[in-house]
Amino acid sequence: MGKTIRFGVSLDSDLLDRFDRVCEEKSYQTRSEAIRDLIRNMLVQREWEEAKGELAGTLSLVYDHHHSGLTQKLLEIQHEVHDVILSTLHVHLDHHNCLEVLVLKGPADKIKTLGQKLISSKGVKHGQLGLTTTGQDLL
Ligand code: NI
Repeated sequence: MGKTIRFGVSLDSDLLDRFDRVCEEKSYQTRSEAIRDLIRNMLVQREWEEAKGELAGTLSLVYDHHHSGLTQKLLEIQHEVHDVILSTLHVHLDHHNCLEVLVLKGPADKIKTLGQKLISSKGVKHGQLGLTTTGQDLL
């Protein structure tokens, strides 16, 4: 961990006012903590873009389990890459709809491919891959 550096930022006062309001709404104690989070988000975003190394994330899927063959297909896709799926949660939302949440950790390309395969499966109504970092390279 490096030493703490102070630096000045020049910006429009209206922009700063808006930033301060959001910081207050989000319960940040100081601007510095909010800016540190923004920088971390940018670095995580960069990690996804570079798609190298190990990532962690969650994938949520909403689908109708009555859709022909869908449940079986989703299971088969998951078993092909079982090593990157740490946990799954299945909730029966109503008579038709299921919500499935997968917790993932592994090589970025493998996680992204899995997300694309599941989300694009016919009958999946909504899917969202939320990538984050394993945290090992962030301070
Ligand atoms: Ni279900």
